[in-house]
Amino acid sequence: RSIRVRAYCSSANLGPGFDALAVALDAFYDEVEVRVESGSGKVIVESVYGPYANQVSNPTTVVGAVKEFKQFKGLGLEDVDVVIRLFKGVPIGSGLGSSGASAAATVVALANLFYPSIKPEEMVYIAGLAEAYAAGSPHFDNVAASTLGKLVALAILDKGLVVKKVDFDAWFAIAMPVKNIFGEGKTKAMREVVPKTVEMRKAVANWSRVAVMMISALQGDLETFGKMMELDEIVEPARSKLIPCYEEVRKAAKKANSLGVTISGAGPSIIALAKDKSHAKEVAEAMANAYSKCVEAIPIITKTA
Ligand code: HSE
Repeated sequence: RSIRVRAYCSSANLGPGFDALAVALDAFYDEVEVRVESGSGKVIVESVYGPYANQVSNPTTVVGAVKEFKQFKGLGLEDVDVVIRLFKGVPIGSGLGSSGASAAATVVALANLFYPSIKPEEMVYIAGLAEAYAAGSPHFDNVAASTLGKLVALAILDKGLVVKKVDFDAWFAIAMPVKNIFGEGKTKAMREVVPKTVEMRKAVANWSRVAVMMISALQGDLETFGKMMELDEIVEPARSKLIPCYEEVRKAAKKANSLGVTISGAGPSIIALAKDKSHAKEVAEAMANAYSKCVEAIPIITKTA
């Protein structure tokens, strides 16, 4: 038995929604082909191929996804080997949910093969646990978007998650460094700079903005959504100091009238909301030019997937 599953890249946080919001984007995707053979419970990554295969030193979230899936509800699967071929189409370490796309595709594939009655939230939960293999701690936002598509919001409970998806259609501009400037362990390091405690005033500011973003998304009000995107008081101020030319890129996006600009996930890509496709092109080019004064960056025009 075998199955092939595609998962798109994603941009998490969208400003104030740290670990709670993400969008799936059609810029890049990963695919996994999972084959099941009788065996002894082994996980075998048979091949990694595709444009970013050479950046994969160790497909940790794919292997992690299989391990977490097996443990879930005691699905031992001791009498089979799971053989995986990974098409790596999402650049690694870019802030576009590369590890999450691999994890999400793997979990969806396994669910189809072994547990078709699984709930979407359970798939997201398992894939988010797999993220810990790369990022040091689980996070569910990228995998939620890659699993479900479009715009997702999630609440982490004592046990499990609640995940909601909105059919949000929007164009985004991204400036992405060509090289993996932070190297391996980037997400882990970028999670370590997030403040451990937060003043009540800042917490209220952030969650009020996220609440408004969600209603704006439901109303198709891109302007308000974008305005909120750039008003993170907690995570962006800590991380942006580590991103070269961040302020210049932000200014370039604003000058090109982007609706909102912020760090994509844990960075270093920088993402802006645009009015439409041609505006996204203009904004992405302006941002990539500004970014390239510090590190070579390319413009990406993408829409929600
Ligand atoms: N929410 C996660 C973070 C996303 O910001 O660390 C990582 O892509």
